[in-house]
Amino acid sequence: MKFAKKTAFLLLLMLAAMFVLSACNGIQRDPPIIVWWDMKRQPKFRTEGETGLFADGRNTRYPPEDTVAQGSPIEDTAFNTGMDGEMYVGKNPVPVTAALIHQGQFRFNTYCSPCHDRTGQGKGLVPQHAPQWQPANLTDDRIVQMADGEIFNVITNGRRTMPPYKYQVVTADRWAIIAYVRVLERAAHGTIDDVPQEQRAELK
Ligand code: HEC
Repeated sequence: MKFAKKTAFLLLLMLAAMFVLSACNGIQRDPPIIVWWDMKRQPKFRTEGETGLFADGRNTRYPPEDTVAQGSPIEDTAFNTGMDGEMYVGKNPVPVTAALIHQGQFRFNTYCSPCHDRTGQGKGLVPQHAPQWQPANLTDDRIVQMADGEIFNVITNGRRTMPPYKYQVVTADRWAIIAYVRVLERAAHGTIDDVPQEQRAELK
């Protein structure tokens, strides 16, 4: 009798264990029996549902106009990429005006002059203190010949020992800087013919 009781108890225990453990696998097709609801059900807006909260009846809202998701691809234009197909754009896609040049001067003096100096010749404070780190002379023929899109690429992504400036300098400012670099180059290669006739005497 005592033995049967013990077996029955063990059987019950096994059954209980089976019951409890069976919850761990298998696909449950019926709605679960929930004793405490906790946070399983709560008031919320369903993506596809309607609440009448907004006039158009939708719960999901459109993002504000001109919103660009982080990391989303930008439009493939010369302005954004500096490229025209496989080639660098030759000419600044932004119309060059006095205002653009002034904007570029301001940005150049802020972001580029520490290394390239204010004349673009590459004798800024950084290379003076770190002589092993020499920037390019932006008035060199090599850079004068460079397509505007290539300079855009250098500012955006950096090149060799020059760090990228895409995070500090927004796209529009990069084109402004390029317009100003052209001004510096022009100034560096000025000749007597650039000086108005009546002012030439003052130079000599
Ligand atoms: C932290 C210093 C530093 C700053 C700031 C800097 N540059 Fe440079 N830049 C360099 C160095 C160094 C090189 C030379 C890279 C090499 O050839 O290794 C260089 C090279 C260049 C070149 C020539 C690339 C080539 O193909 O030889 C251009 C163009 C240029 N920089 C433009 C700019 C412009 C425009 C800015 C401002 C947005 C700027 N840099 C800011 C350090 C700097």
